[in-house]
Amino acid sequence: TTIPKYVTNLVVPGVMPRLETSSRNPVDEYRIGVRQFRQQVLPPGYPTTAVWGYGSSAHPRSFGFPACTIEARVDRPVRVTWVNELVDANGRFLPHLLPVDPTLHWANPGGGVVGRDRHVRFTSTPEGYTGPVPVVSHVHGARVLEDGDGYPEAWYLPVARNIPRGYATVGSYYDEFHTRFADRHKVRWRPGSATFQYENEQHATALWYHDHALGLTRLNVYAGPVGLYLIRGGPSDLPAGVLPAPASDPVSRRHEIPMIIQDRTFHRSGALYYPDHPDIPGFAGPYIPDSDIPPIWTETFLGNTMLVNGRTWPKLDVEPRRYRLRILNACNARFLQLRITANPTARRVTTALPLWQMGGDGGFLPEPVEHEALPVGNGERVDVVVDFTGVPEGTELYLVNEGPDGHYRGGEPGRDFEPADQNTTGQVMKFVVGARIEADTTVPPDRLQLPTFTPLGPAKTTRRLSINVVRSEVRGAGPVGHLLGQVDSDGRRVLRRWGEQVTETPTVGVTEIWEFRNFTPYAHPIHIHHIQFQVIGRGPDGRQPPESWETGYKDVVMTFPGDRTRVKVRFDQVGRFVWHCHLLEHEDNEMMLPFIVGNPVQ
Ligand code: C2O
Ligand code: CU
Repeated sequence: TTIPKYVTNLVVPGVMPRLETSSRNPVDEYRIGVRQFRQQVLPPGYPTTAVWGYGSSAHPRSFGFPACTIEARVDRPVRVTWVNELVDANGRFLPHLLPVDPTLHWANPGGGVVGRDRHVRFTSTPEGYTGPVPVVSHVHGARVLEDGDGYPEAWYLPVARNIPRGYATVGSYYDEFHTRFADRHKVRWRPGSATFQYENEQHATALWYHDHALGLTRLNVYAGPVGLYLIRGGPSDLPAGVLPAPASDPVSRRHEIPMIIQDRTFHRSGALYYPDHPDIPGFAGPYIPDSDIPPIWTETFLGNTMLVNGRTWPKLDVEPRRYRLRILNACNARFLQLRITANPTARRVTTALPLWQMGGDGGFLPEPVEHEALPVGNGERVDVVVDFTGVPEGTELYLVNEGPDGHYRGGEPGRDFEPADQNTTGQVMKFVVGARIEADTTVPPDRLQLPTFTPLGPAKTTRRLSINVVRSEVRGAGPVGHLLGQVDSDGRRVLRRWGEQVTETPTVGVTEIWEFRNFTPYAHPIHIHHIQFQVIGRGPDGRQPPESWETGYKDVVMTFPGDRTRVKVRFDQVGRFVWHCHLLEHEDNEMMLPFIVGNPVQ
């Protein structure tokens, strides 16, 4: 692409406005809508882009792509009413910005089960689904009860005048969860919304929130609704002043920078581009035999531009001091490997400054890890300190990406795979070092004492799970999907689908090992809802130790081809949750399963 780089300043999302309630209210309350609006995502002079984003319903200017950051405190509950506001000024629903594939098992308001059993009652014409958009919000990494988790079948439509007759306005789990929540908290939900409560009884860390509607997540998230959810305070956090930008100091917040990294492709009009046909050469037929609905789903989609906080290739003026970067890989399918360099297009890109990783998905690591190149899988967060101290004024440094422009299979860029195009997706953003403004009293990363890390206790059982590639029943269609499943006692794979009987039923309070055996040629970032786990082994026998940067609590783990990746989990709430691949295209096409945490048998 010819889009100029580093002409836009990095936009730091603000803090999500709370609802005004009594100061004695023990809960932080929010009303957060998802709306459609236009944003200057491309550089000035280029067209604006229609996107979706979250914001506080009472503050129209708080809407953004990505959204404002939710600031939470450990042990202080947050209650959010999430509202589907995808309607126009006349109260009519807005259709999807992107092509919906009605041949997947999806949050289909028109009803009809799609997939293997082929009772296909499509609500769309072959030209595409033009109906209202189901949404449901999930706070990724949150320890939450099932009725607040954003179950993919607990979706809801906006309240709109023109919902077609016969459409379901909510998904199959909405009413049950709504009723249970309303009874417990003595609150009522209004149509077109869902109220969820997050207790924040977990470690200080960076979570993120995003849409999770069944079979639509890749499209809904690509259209924009994502934001960070930072939890601070308590013994799992560092005292104020140790790291750049303590939460209590809104001024020096500029030294703690949230960075939501995404890849996107644009039409000339500025509109978001997402493919409307599968990426299988020569294949034109439907996945479902005897259906005349053309398929749309594509195995993975990678964009050709890089965005940080909703702008292509931004720049950030920094002082010669330490910065804390809260990085999130929110790409649909792109694996990132980040490095800071002075020369982004050199034949051999060298490190100018290390990235010191303090924490990961679920909180601080046992100790800081120094990276030349920092891997960030889909859905993963990294808490990083970069020290610009002593860098001469006027120096320009680049954050580059050496992950592949395609499927990640593991290994090293340049040795095991071709790194991303150095002129486009191989670059992410630029730092311009200026003059020092104030003294830096934070602790250098190599001298940081991180909070004491408490591991999980011994595990009682091992659950053997499989990650599989499947081929279409349609000849010539090639590998068109991936399924999760188990490995049985004879070492054979058992493939499972979303709609089948739930097979993973752990007992509350029992520590287990989940062993993921990857039978595919690709790496899959596996995410388990509701808990933070510990990575305890990987490699062909599952006995290799985790990487140094995986030694804290996590909620996503990269599983590599041929490996047995072992994580230790303990579920401490009963209920129905999901585990899935966080490549959003995979997740949307059956690479997600429910699990049910139950009470012990008496
Ligand atoms: Cu980031 Cu199940 O989601
Ligand atoms: Cu996958």
